[in-house]
Amino acid sequence: MPPQDPHTPPLALVMVGLPARGKTYISRKISRYLSWLGYQTRVFNVGNYRRARLGAAQAHAFFDPTNAQGVEARRQLAMAALRDMLKWLKGGGQVGIYDATNTTGERRRLVLEECGKAGVQVVFVESICDSAVVEANIREVKLGSPDYVDMTPEEAADDFRARIAHYERSYEPLDDPELAYVKLIDVGRQVVVNGVEGYLCARLVFFLMNIHTDRRAIWLTRHGESEYNVQNRIGGDPELTALGKGYAKNLASYIQERVPKSQEFVLWTSTLRRTWQTAEPIGRELTQWRVLDEIDAGECDGMTYDEIRRERPEEFRARAEDKLRYRYPRGESYADVIQRLEPVIVELERQKRPVLVVSHQGIIRGLYGYLIGRPQEECPHIQVPLHTLIEMTPTAYGYEERRIKLGPELG
Ligand code: SIN
Repeated sequence: MPPQDPHTPPLALVMVGLPARGKTYISRKISRYLSWLGYQTRVFNVGNYRRARLGAAQAHAFFDPTNAQGVEARRQLAMAALRDMLKWLKGGGQVGIYDATNTTGERRRLVLEECGKAGVQVVFVESICDSAVVEANIREVKLGSPDYVDMTPEEAADDFRARIAHYERSYEPLDDPELAYVKLIDVGRQVVVNGVEGYLCARLVFFLMNIHTDRRAIWLTRHGESEYNVQNRIGGDPELTALGKGYAKNLASYIQERVPKSQEFVLWTSTLRRTWQTAEPIGRELTQWRVLDEIDAGECDGMTYDEIRRERPEEFRARAEDKLRYRYPRGESYADVIQRLEPVIVELERQKRPVLVVSHQGIIRGLYGYLIGRPQEECPHIQVPLHTLIEMTPTAYGYEERRIKLGPELG
């Protein structure tokens, strides 16, 4: 959990960029990452304010900088979202993400001034993409937007291109050396950083250096049933049972059918035998990460929950009261686990190949919680049954999830 440092002002991440440059994609990724790390984070999307207040169907002329009515309406929407963000930051929010075009120096000065008055630190995040990425974004994301429900794909694409052209006429890319900014060029290809300081911002820059827009599957699974699962014991380094070996075989068939041998593939396990025994039948090179080892149950390692309740009732109670922060004596808490998983998250973001992670309940809870954008508090309570593969397929702004029961059924 990040410390609440009273001397660190709240932070506004102010997006900059022409339409279809992935600003919303980046905003949501940052939001997911920071929420999962325990920061109170929220996105304020000016397009949503427009849709909510004026209706979705605004033709491109609304965005024309010579349309005085449109300019004034858009200024009011931008200010409404900005005011709401500053109010939320004043009320205890830590990071507000202001998801809007902010393509003119004048608009950025206004945002900076309002944030300054509210004592909010500002870092601009500009996204610049080449034309192929923009076209792909229009096709994959914008045509499905509520802005275009009543149009054919051709009409929608033409209207969106005309909208971009309006913004291009007044676009002033960020280049003021006095400002703190991060420029992302072709999300993931090049990152330019100016005047960015502090722990949180540095962490964020590192994260932004590793994201990209390529789509690939991510699979998550617990190991097959182990000897300790049968006895209801936690921790240890037990072998798989016969049923657990059956799951390993089923998992191998499932993955082999979907990832041909000729395709590059990433397979991660923990260092504990039940995970690499589950992964081995796939017949691919695997990497063992200690950081993927199960939550360390310390002095309770090898005990059943019944034994903990009887022999360490105070521990049992403390865990039930606050499962996220409860730390096993000489062991770890879920909050510790989430902190240690951060390098895995960054590596997961960086990978462009399909990835399968075979690990443990506590670890899969943490990784899955990140992928579906759950705050830390919820991670320890996420259901992750044995012998079930979680398949995460990227969509425009997140993942579509499928849970595949591969069997064998457990007794
Ligand atoms: C929008 O209305 O979709 C975007 C508004 C903006 O930030 O320019």
